[in-house]
Amino acid sequence: MAEMVTAAAPGRVNLIGEHTDYNGGMVLPAALAVGLKVNLAPRSDSVVAVSSAGYDAPSIRDLEDEAVGDWADPCVGALREANSLGLLDGGAALDVVSTIPEGSGLSSSAALIVAILKAAREANGNGPSDVDIAVAARRVENQYMGVPCGIMDQMAVALARPGTAMALDTGKLEYALVPLPQSHEMVVVHSGLTRKLTDGRYKARKEECDAAKRYFGTEDLCLLDWETVKGANLDATAKKRAMHCVSENVRVHAAIAALDAGDMTALGTAMNESHESMRDWFEMSLPQIDTLVASAVELGAAGARLTGGGFGGCIVACVEKTGRDAWLEALLEKHPDARFIDAVSG
Ligand code: GLA
Repeated sequence: MAEMVTAAAPGRVNLIGEHTDYNGGMVLPAALAVGLKVNLAPRSDSVVAVSSAGYDAPSIRDLEDEAVGDWADPCVGALREANSLGLLDGGAALDVVSTIPEGSGLSSSAALIVAILKAAREANGNGPSDVDIAVAARRVENQYMGVPCGIMDQMAVALARPGTAMALDTGKLEYALVPLPQSHEMVVVHSGLTRKLTDGRYKARKEECDAAKRYFGTEDLCLLDWETVKGANLDATAKKRAMHCVSENVRVHAAIAALDAGDMTALGTAMNESHESMRDWFEMSLPQIDTLVASAVELGAAGARLTGGGFGGCIVACVEKTGRDAWLEALLEKHPDARFIDAVSG
């Protein structure tokens, strides 16, 4: 039996910049403390044997299998990718230990694929850079699993560092790590409503953005100027999506400047405006999430917003550390379906 190797990847929360990562824009994700660990033992046949305490029953698959829509798909896809990158020559036994709640929009799937690719790199002794691993992990989602996601999650879980946010230009794949404040925490609260990127609504939004890209003749929807989009005579839905993308990109820059300046009021304003834009222009929120966000702010957060792909999942709120416990208690009392997931700070 080949030697076993181990690799880990964190979950991620996006502080701001939603649906900008396949439109040439900026995002600002941060690594969470919840995460997963993969033990990988290479096999010389094509069997993929996956077990996990956190998921369903063990799964036995084959490298030749197509995706079937279950939790082992990211494992098969990642191992196929590891074979085409020359990191492995065959299947593997995988054991996954995860604390990332599934269906919460915290990138459990990206973390699983990235951790498997990093483990395969370890087994091989060397291999692609972390950026190239992120790009390969996106390929697994886009091409093997049929999930039309952008590059944010893979970059965040492959490269983000605790205590910082990653200011990532998704068009150029360039990034800077921005220190998180020490005075405030970015608190992640699950709404109680689960979501899946495969449920069709994410794809529908992407297609609406594609329509706007065709109209404006650009891949970089986020980089258009506001007046150009506002004055354009395109389909009303595609126009609203473009208005979100352009304004959201400006807000990410404002949020990075706010973090640099330690101005949590400005960060909070950008987060609140981002939520309104996701609600009204990108139409990716749900009434229960709007109420949860509103409560988070009423109870004293500097700002709060839905985070991730939308239509369920988590909110993120910027909350002063000293009042954090009382704030959380009041929020969860008002919203019994919601639950605390994690919090990150500098
Ligand atoms: C999901 C996708 C990302 C990104 C976000 C929305 O997390 O995987 O690529 O598009 O939604 O910002």
